[in-house]
Amino acid sequence: MRVLVIGSGGREHALSWAISKSPRVTKLFVAPGNGGTAAIAENAPIDITRHDAVLAFIAANAIDFVVIGPDAPAVAGLGDDVRAAGILCFGPSKAAAQLEGSKGFTKQICDEADIPTAAYGRFDSEEPALAYVRKHGAPIVVKADGLAAGKGVTVAMTLPEAEDAVRDCFSGAFGESGSSVVIEEFLVGEEASVFALCDGQNIVMLASAQDHKRVWDGDRGPNTGGMGAYSPAPVMTDAMMARTRAEIIEPTVRRMTERGTPFTGVLFAGLMVTDTGPKLIEYNVRFGDPECQVLMMRLKTDIVDLLEATARGKLAGVVPEWSDEVALTVVLATKGYPVSAEKGSVIAGAEDQDSATLRIFHAGTARNGTQLVANGGRVLNVTALGASVAEAQARAYAAVDKVDWPEGFCRRDIGWRAIAREKA
Ligand code: AMP
Ligand code: GLY
Repeated sequence: MRVLVIGSGGREHALSWAISKSPRVTKLFVAPGNGGTAAIAENAPIDITRHDAVLAFIAANAIDFVVIGPDAPAVAGLGDDVRAAGILCFGPSKAAAQLEGSKGFTKQICDEADIPTAAYGRFDSEEPALAYVRKHGAPIVVKADGLAAGKGVTVAMTLPEAEDAVRDCFSGAFGESGSSVVIEEFLVGEEASVFALCDGQNIVMLASAQDHKRVWDGDRGPNTGGMGAYSPAPVMTDAMMARTRAEIIEPTVRRMTERGTPFTGVLFAGLMVTDTGPKLIEYNVRFGDPECQVLMMRLKTDIVDLLEATARGKLAGVVPEWSDEVALTVVLATKGYPVSAEKGSVIAGAEDQDSATLRIFHAGTARNGTQLVANGGRVLNVTALGASVAEAQARAYAAVDKVDWPEGFCRRDIGWRAIAREKA
């Protein structure tokens, strides 16, 4: 099977690595890929926002199966165009990708299917939105409706902060994404991520994970795409996974099919585990980044079988196998991230560390001759397996310490919450 993975992040390196282990794969391309995927696949330097260019590449290279990694191409309908060309594709339709593309859409599905989530209001103009935050008071959460590269959410602890966030959205700080705003109840609890493969009818629950969104130790500082993650999430017990499936994932999948926009692909539920059970914070229509890295590290089943069964509507009876070990990943980012990130600094010591329990996935890297150089904000994902979160963490940081990259930084406390639990 000739496979094309779309994307260039750590998620796509991890997916490509898992795909490359499948004996079924005869050729693997990643478009556009990164410095890590170049070592295990052939990078295809195509502009993935141009669907005609992607289709031309597929035809010229006899691709059998396309796997869409990130949200942007899914929301732009690349999956529809690939399928329309008669090629098998893992990834949602444009219509189903609205679960990530529009927070208001997801809230509507929650209303229709009675899915537990934060109470909310949705507004298309500033005055009623301001009136709503004044009525409900802080803490309160203000969200630009559309994709805003993870920056459209303000968890406002004070009323003036909430009012400013509303004004920012309507003054165009997030472009079109902010022309509609969802304002919601502040949920209290522990966050976790749950992943499920869906083929429109059947659901296969994958593993859980927890990530660290804030840039600094102690979960402080601005939000990022994620500075580290581990799997499984201790808060997601078997009982909590079963409730999440029954109360959140199943009604969503059913509702999406009923309304004529069946969801296929991987559904990533961002949850708040509250005193009364799991509540949906948001959906993503893709694997998490860096959550995918820890999932792929633990997955024992051939990923190509899973992705293909999803794309073909054949998930009934599929049961993936996972390592019992914990996986933990530490993100190394360029100093200045998430505000800015200078490209081009040289990274040494990041290669030749891979073993059965350790793998360094690349995100924003590129090759400059024989040198590995930084090419973005999040750059490396140092990922380890261990019998406990503490052991996986120790292995990951031992490997981090062998990387020689003065222009980079990382958090030093990934997994702290779970390690505190292990010690308790
Ligand atoms: P999102 O982009 O929707 O994932 O939101 C980013 C982060 O904001 C989440 O990971 C949560 O930490 C926080 N957040 C979002 N919605 C809520 C909420 N209703 N209550 C509390 N925290 C929230
Ligand atoms: N790490 C969070 C995300 O991928 O959205």
